[in-house]
Formats: sequence, structure tokens, C-alpha cells
Amino acid sequence: MPAKSARLDRFISSKMAISQKAVRPILAQGRVAVDGCVCRDRQQIINTFSRITLDGQILQANTPLYLMMNKPKGVVSATRDDQHQTVIDLLDHPERSKLHLVGRLDFNSTGLLLLTNDSGWSQQLMKPDQKVSKRYRVTVNSPLDQQTVDAFAAGMYFAYEDATTRPAGLNIINDYEAEVTLTEGRYHQIKRMFARCNNKVLSLHRIAIGNLLLDPSLSAGQSRELSAAEVTDITDQVI
Ligand code: URA
Repeated sequence: MPAKSARLDRFISSKMAISQKAVRPILAQGRVAVDGCVCRDRQQIINTFSRITLDGQILQANTPLYLMMNKPKGVVSATRDDQHQTVIDLLDHPERSKLHLVGRLDFNSTGLLLLTNDSGWSQQLMKPDQKVSKRYRVTVNSPLDQQTVDAFAAGMYFAYEDATTRPAGLNIINDYEAEVTLTEGRYHQIKRMFARCNNKVLSLHRIAIGNLLLDPSLSAGQSRELSAAEVTDITDQVI
């Protein structure tokens, strides 16, 4: 999943606030290095994480960062909020201000939340046609039944967004608990789907995104970096 890319001359032009024409001699003189190698090609494609120097001075040196958090209840899935604590407030990482969220969980939902500074990765994961699964453990107010399973599998039309939900998996664990698998992320989707079946969600905890499981060693509010394998192997296509 590539990071966002750009042309080298355009990057330097924008960074240095000079014209692209003015960038040409700078490149021709061999003053620019990309990832440690002198680069004279103005059409060289770079990305957010290419290390770029001019006369040895750093123009860009970003390290990709991928975190999973066990989101607690009562915290907003946002980078800023005037009223409530946000998931970013829970991090004590030095790069936390550069992170964005890969999808959201409602204020009272808990569980697996991903944060990154790699917009190429997050966009790829969030693309509707990627159909990356999200798995939730849900507790409801009234006993679960086969009709609800069938309704989730069939998809439900919501006039609010004039769309029918994709087939969703509902695996009943006991009368009041189930695992739900979605391949999309509509506004309050699980709550609205259960409401359509005359049921009410009491708690909602995300346990997996694609192949990535929430690390059980993370208590509510804790986070950790993803391994390189977790970053690359996350995508699945289940339904
Ligand atoms: N569906 C919901 O209703 N809420 C969430 O937080 C996630 C999925």
C-alpha cells in the first residue's frame, strides 16, 4: 500500500516557495538527495516518507507510524474536540499531532482503532471496494434470533443515505451476545441495523479489522505500534 506520491520538482517548488523552473538548476547541480542518493531527475516520484535533502539540509524526513489502540468508552474518535477527550489525547507519542484515524468508533463504542500518519495506507484500507472486514462483539437488549441473522445477511435499505447495506455477518454467541462482521462503515451502522430488527445495542467492541486482531494485552486506552507484517497483512476480503 504505497504512501502518497508526488513529483520531486513539484515538492521542492512548493517546499521552497520557488517556481518549478527555478528548481531545475538546483537539481542539475546535484544539490538534492533522495533517500541518501543524489537525484537530478525532476520527474522522480517521491512519497511522504522519502527523505529529501537540499545542500545537506533536511526538507522532508517523515517516518511512517502505525498504531493500534484499545479505545475506551467516553472518548471521541477525532483528532480535536472542544468538549471531550479525544483518542489523540490518550497518546503520549511524540508524533501524535501528525496522526489521523483510520475509521471511527462511536463515543461509547470500544476496541480496535487504528491511527497513522500514512494517508496512502489509510486511504487504501478505507476504500469501499477493498471491502476490508470489521468484526465487532455486540451485546443487545433483547434475545437474538434467526430473523435478525437473515436481515443482516440480506442487507437493509436506509433512506438516510439512500443505500442498502452490504451483506453483514451475524454470528450468535448466546441470547444477548453476537459477533457482527461488516465490510463497510456507515454512520451508527450496527446500532441502526439492530434498531431495524427491534433490538438495542448495549455495548459494541471492535475486535478485528481485516486480519488484524485487537491485542488482548492492551487495556482500555492503551496503544502500541503495529509490526511491519501487521501493516502489510491487514487487508482481507471476507464477504
Ligand atoms: N456501528 C455502530 O453503530 N457504532 C460503531 O461505533 C461502529 C459500528
